[in-house]
Amino acid sequence: MILVTGGAGFIGSNFVLDWLAQSDEAVINLDLLTYAGNRESLTSLLGDTRHIFVQGNIGDSTLVASLLQQHQPRAIINFAAESHVDRSIHGPADFIQTNIVSTFHLLEAVRIYWNNLHTDAKQVFRFLHISTDEVYGSLTKDEPAFAEAHPYQPNSPYSASKAASDHLVRAYHHTYGLPVLTTNCSNNYGPHHFPEKLIPLMIVNALAGKPLPVYGDGQQIRDWLYVKDHCSAIRRVLDAGKVGEVYNIGGWNEKPNIEIVRTICTLLDQLQTRTDRKSYSEQITYVTDRPGHDRRYAIDASKIARELGWKPVETFDSGIRKTIAWYLANQDWVNNVTSGAYKNWIEQHYKAQP
Ligand code: NAD
Ligand code: TYD
Repeated sequence: MILVTGGAGFIGSNFVLDWLAQSDEAVINLDLLTYAGNRESLTSLLGDTRHIFVQGNIGDSTLVASLLQQHQPRAIINFAAESHVDRSIHGPADFIQTNIVSTFHLLEAVRIYWNNLHTDAKQVFRFLHISTDEVYGSLTKDEPAFAEAHPYQPNSPYSASKAASDHLVRAYHHTYGLPVLTTNCSNNYGPHHFPEKLIPLMIVNALAGKPLPVYGDGQQIRDWLYVKDHCSAIRRVLDAGKVGEVYNIGGWNEKPNIEIVRTICTLLDQLQTRTDRKSYSEQITYVTDRPGHDRRYAIDASKIARELGWKPVETFDSGIRKTIAWYLANQDWVNNVTSGAYKNWIEQHYKAQP
């Protein structure tokens, strides 16, 4: 079996669902259920004995050690993290605690477990750490995309904390021989994406008749990847990645934010026309820029294509259509995750905006 951490979050839940759709290998899903973790994303697995959900902290060494001892996983895929840049600007402490300190405790528990495995199990064991392109910093318009050897230049508390965790993972391989793999992926989008991030926020706000808040001039560029493509890349790296290596994952799909927002408006105009028949683009509002806002991210995903034969299946056009269709069909999920704490965040974060 495998142990997935953060498997009730956006990417983790997609990963667990895809994994169990393609394999009978069981999954222990360790998730703290912070505001970003939603068991509603896993309801289709209720009663499925291949999925063992445990609510807990990756930084709880006693819990992690006992789960490892009891279930003897052959691999760990570490998604658990605080993941939202804007939240890291308002309150960096949780990011330092989870992404650095708790990841360290997880690595320690895993090192002890791995050391005590017998030779064959030790040989095949893998610790796959899920990271982000944001550790590489920001690119100008004409600079080449981030390759694996690009220097780390994180600019936000979020990306700095992820960079620190990547370094710890690397050090545990270099120093202790722990068989690690690291993936650095670009911006994901798709089902179960918490509506504080750009794409789901725009869909949910548009449908609710609320402003669509575009930071600064809206010309910041991100490289978007459909979440199921990220999940297939992770499976490929787990199967065939070379121990100690880093693989960048991306969609070859750079777009300025304003183009993303306009595309969402155009598709919603077709799929769920506003009652006044005007375009959702009328709701676009330019707001104060994010402090330290990275201008451009772009991933050079040629290593994973060349060495592991992976490439994305979805284009942005096909992926965004699937995503919007999912949000239209899953209003209950949206209503569940946008109660209470979500409302407080939205009010606090956007309150100073015109
Ligand atoms: P998310 O915020 O949607 O989910 C994170 C999950 O981790 C939640 O279910 C949360 O409850 C859980 N969690 C948080 N702290 C925990 C702890 N201490 N112990 C156990 N569980 C804990 O995040 P996501 O977007 O699914 O991202 C998953 C991973 O992928 C993160 O490591 C993130 O840095 C990385 N990543 C995300 C993107 C993206 O576009 N979303 C892109 C590249 C990499
Ligand atoms: P986000 O989804 O938070 O991902 P990240 O900051 O990790 O790339 O934001 C994506 C881009 O969209 C980023 O350039 C910030 C911008 N953005 C807005 O313009 N308005 C918003 O309300 C949000 C949440 C993001």
